[in-house]
Amino acid sequence: MAQIIPVDIFDIVVFGGTGDLALRKLMPSLFLRDHDGQIPDGSRILGVSRSDLSSADYVARLRAGLEQHLDQDDLDDETWQRFSARIAHVRLDATKAEGWDGLVQDLKDGEDRSRVFYLATSPDLFGPICRNLKTAGVVTPKARVVLEKPIGRDLESACRINDEVGTVFNEDQIFRIDHYLGKETVQNLMALRFANSLFEPLWTSASIDHIQITVAETIGVGGRSGYYDRSGALRDMVQNHLLQLLCLVAMEPPVRLDKDSVRDEKLKVLQALRPIADGDVGVKTVSGQYRSGAVDGQAVPGYQDELNAEADGDAPESNTETFVVIKAEVENWRWAGVPFYLRTGKRLPKRSSEIIIQFRPVPHSIFEQGAGEVVANRLVIRLQPDEGVTLNLMTKDPGPGGLRLRPAPLNLSFAETFKVRYPDAYERLLMDVVRGNPTLFMRRDEVEAAWSWVEPILEGWQRGSERPKAYTAGTWGPSAAIALIERDGRTWHDDAE
Ligand code: BG6
Repeated sequence: MAQIIPVDIFDIVVFGGTGDLALRKLMPSLFLRDHDGQIPDGSRILGVSRSDLSSADYVARLRAGLEQHLDQDDLDDETWQRFSARIAHVRLDATKAEGWDGLVQDLKDGEDRSRVFYLATSPDLFGPICRNLKTAGVVTPKARVVLEKPIGRDLESACRINDEVGTVFNEDQIFRIDHYLGKETVQNLMALRFANSLFEPLWTSASIDHIQITVAETIGVGGRSGYYDRSGALRDMVQNHLLQLLCLVAMEPPVRLDKDSVRDEKLKVLQALRPIADGDVGVKTVSGQYRSGAVDGQAVPGYQDELNAEADGDAPESNTETFVVIKAEVENWRWAGVPFYLRTGKRLPKRSSEIIIQFRPVPHSIFEQGAGEVVANRLVIRLQPDEGVTLNLMTKDPGPGGLRLRPAPLNLSFAETFKVRYPDAYERLLMDVVRGNPTLFMRRDEVEAAWSWVEPILEGWQRGSERPKAYTAGTWGPSAAIALIERDGRTWHDDAE
């Protein structure tokens, strides 16, 4: 079992306590931390919602969620007894100033503990809830607030939310979560780059031709269309997850692994992104929306069909994109001339998140033409599933006679090498909040810099009359996505496989 670093006794209050995120991610992650013995005795977990639920009803609901989302082997009785005894439900409309007595009472005697307010709610409630927390007198010096993404829907709303939350909590108490930063393999990117001397000297435009970052999902939007239709893939995935991955790939080595050194370096990358605006939007971006098709051999409806089904009939025609490709450029010495192709979408052929570092070809081949093509090296960092790293090298095809070349993979599979359970990102991040370590959370200036880059793309799409291009569910997006990279004489990694 991995080493468990103890945390101090804490109370966590989850607003949106009956919501999808709480049931699917937060509570299962807290349960697993309890299972591994990391939650100190006396710590309390309070779920807040407007529902008229007793704590017993709430515990039963959480149990159903755990059964659905955890492996049965992890759901042992001993942990369940301990975990369920920590839980209580607090009925409260957190947007109203009155009605907070129950929560105040429940938190009594815990002023000296770490106190976490987790806002798993819509971002427009962040400001009002923080104000009410302050009025209720529960914001102690050791209190922290966690804000789920998205922080706003554009730069202006993000700044407003940050201002509102900032009147109650100081920046060190604010934890803006991007769960991609809690993924083991994403942190492994830092280990790969900065704990090996091999890669860093090659990590520049002198050796690298281009980089691809793909986060492909097979799921559709299903029951989340209320949120998703107002958001779309650019706001939901690119503004946060993909840009954070880009930052970790492109940043300079931080001086130390502390909160400001790492985040300062990421911020510099965001600030160096070449703006994509006006005429460039049509050339450097592609948006798409899935229509019906088949994923994993199963027929699946189109995006608009899902909206219609939820609206019990005909929903208005939606222009929301479920797929995005962007050719991004980082304008600094290290990366000048190296495009970063970002791609994400729902209902693609397979669930796969990976970063491709495509090296330049050898400057001159000494091999005869019949020896076969000298394929340029490629480093594939697989974030999920099947986490690992593959370096594609050229080798000699075994056998007598002439010298024939063959590409071969040098493969590191984390599952085979380490044989441990990979914790969910939320397990790691929740414990970081309790400890007060914000290194893997987004600082205000990062969020705002990311919005500043994304916003002109959104505006460009809105101004242009083109709808997102249709793609059949189960394919790699509209043909324009393939054309975008092929215009540059390159191909997507999946096409090259
Ligand atoms: C969330 C998005 O932040 O990330 C979802 O809102 C998306 O739309 C999810 O499905 C993907 O996360 P993961 O961890 O499954 O890659």
